[in-house]
Amino acid sequence: MGCVKHKYLTHLNIYLVSISNSTPSGFFVKMNFVVAFVFLYLTTLAPCHVRSQQRHLIKMTLVRNARATNALCLDGSLPAYHLDRGFGDGKDNWLLQFEGGGWCNDLKSCLERAKTRRGSTSYMSKFEDFNGILSNSATLNPGFYNWNRVKLRYCDGASFTGDAVFTDKNTTLYFKGQKIWDAIIRDLLPQGLGKAQKALLSGCSAGGLATFHHCDDFAKYLPTNATVKCLSDAGFFLDERDISLNYTFRLFFKNVVQLQGAEQNQNKNCTMALKSPELCFFPQYALSYISTPYFILNSAYDVFQFHNILVPPSADLRGYWNRCKLNPAACTPDQINTLQGFRLDMLAALKPFNTNSRTGGMFINSCFAHCQSELQETWFAADSPRINKKTIAEAVGDWYFSRNTSKEIDCAYPCDSTCHNLIP
Ligand SMILES: *[C@@H]1O[C@H](CO)[C@@H](O)[C@H](O)[C@H]1NC(C)=O
Ligand SMILES: *[C@@H]1O[C@H](CO)[C@@H](O)[C@H](O)[C@H]1NC(C)=O
Ligand SMILES: *[C@@H]1O[C@H](CO)[C@@H](O)[C@H](O)[C@H]1NC(C)=O
Ligand SMILES: *[C@@H]1O[C@H](CO)[C@@H](O)[C@H](O)[C@H]1NC(C)=O
Ligand SMILES: *[C@@H]1O[C@H](CO)[C@@H](O)[C@H](O)[C@H]1NC(C)=O
Repeated sequence: MGCVKHKYLTHLNIYLVSISNSTPSGFFVKMNFVVAFVFLYLTTLAPCHVRSQQRHLIKMTLVRNARATNALCLDGSLPAYHLDRGFGDGKDNWLLQFEGGGWCNDLKSCLERAKTRRGSTSYMSKFEDFNGILSNSATLNPGFYNWNRVKLRYCDGASFTGDAVFTDKNTTLYFKGQKIWDAIIRDLLPQGLGKAQKALLSGCSAGGLATFHHCDDFAKYLPTNATVKCLSDAGFFLDERDISLNYTFRLFFKNVVQLQGAEQNQNKNCTMALKSPELCFFPQYALSYISTPYFILNSAYDVFQFHNILVPPSADLRGYWNRCKLNPAACTPDQINTLQGFRLDMLAALKPFNTNSRTGGMFINSCFAHCQSELQETWFAADSPRINKKTIAEAVGDWYFSRNTSKEIDCAYPCDSTCHNLIP
């Protein structure tokens, strides 16, 4: 029992009380809720015991001023973040982390998304558990534990880059990710971000992609003498053909960018240089136009990319890859070869960065994972993934604090024995 924080218990009790009060239909209904919540309570305890960790729940803050600039979630609700204050010698340092969660690429998928936690703060959890790179514990997060840590909630469907509104008789959809980013920054600047000494912009998946599009403008908001760097976790989405030789994901991203009016918010130097400017949405093209120091954390067999870029369902209608998709040990030699080809293409796309960037860092491991900085098990734990004996937290720390060069590339699957979390 000692492992659940008092704060969490209090929150749970309030939740129980408010649900009981709002239920008019008597004792049995109330009892059912109580039973349900006790069950929920017990099930949330279990992993906590296994990991012997405390939950660290941080409350949501709605950005009230966002309405003035139409900086709204898909459904028109206010955008939000969760802020856990820094302390000690970290009180002037800021870590901002973009939440991930895919994209919507047409009206239908965006309309559906607007009715979920991916497109509306109304449906989101109002408390978030701060783990891994967001943890406030020195032993779990040695580099950043005492910084101001902020999770930016994702509700626009285009990695915080859109700027358009769709309206017809029945609906309005806000494609306002760029404005949401601006509104959150403007909300945080007077709270101390404007005087930051050190700052790191991070994010995972669609949030990792968002870091590429906001890294340099993040730096512009901060004092010129601040140390500003960016970290993409599982955001290095590769412009790669699928197994049926179609550029499925290129088309997908193109649709996202066009639908949401995101072209205007791409890096101008990139869009001017490329014949197909929409490709600048892909990190491999945008990266060389970014001047702020970068760290690229990614698996070379990123599970999302494997399942959606390399082998999207449309390219494997007969399901030859179904078993392999769930368990790499079940892949045929041909399938493993295809996956090795994907890894080599990712390394090739990263080669200019690896060779030329003197301020950059990277950690490209060979675990079948997607997002490794937010989970304690993969970020920093006794048995977390390593390259050359270094955990991800150590590699990122060495790079951020300029302790050592930090460009780690793992050997190919299945050589790495520290990957204990193959495909969730
Ligand atoms: C508006 O909604 C109604 C009922 O759901 C539907 O029949 C109609 O086609 C919709 N109109 C537009 C313009 O989408
Ligand atoms: C940056 O400048 C401010 C104001 O001049 C000063 O207080 C602060 O110590 C400086 N920070 C760094 C990291 O040099
Ligand atoms: C484009 O490149 C020029 C010259 O290197 C630089 O001054 C400018 O800041 C860059 N613009 C963007 C949006 O990165
Ligand atoms: C590949 O793309 C072409 C052209 O867009 C399309 O006709 C075809 O159905 C696609 N094939 C698969 C397997 O998705
Ligand atoms: C720097 O990294 C190299 C290679 O990972 C390692 O051998 C060396 O001990 C590190 N140096 C320090 C000061 O941590």
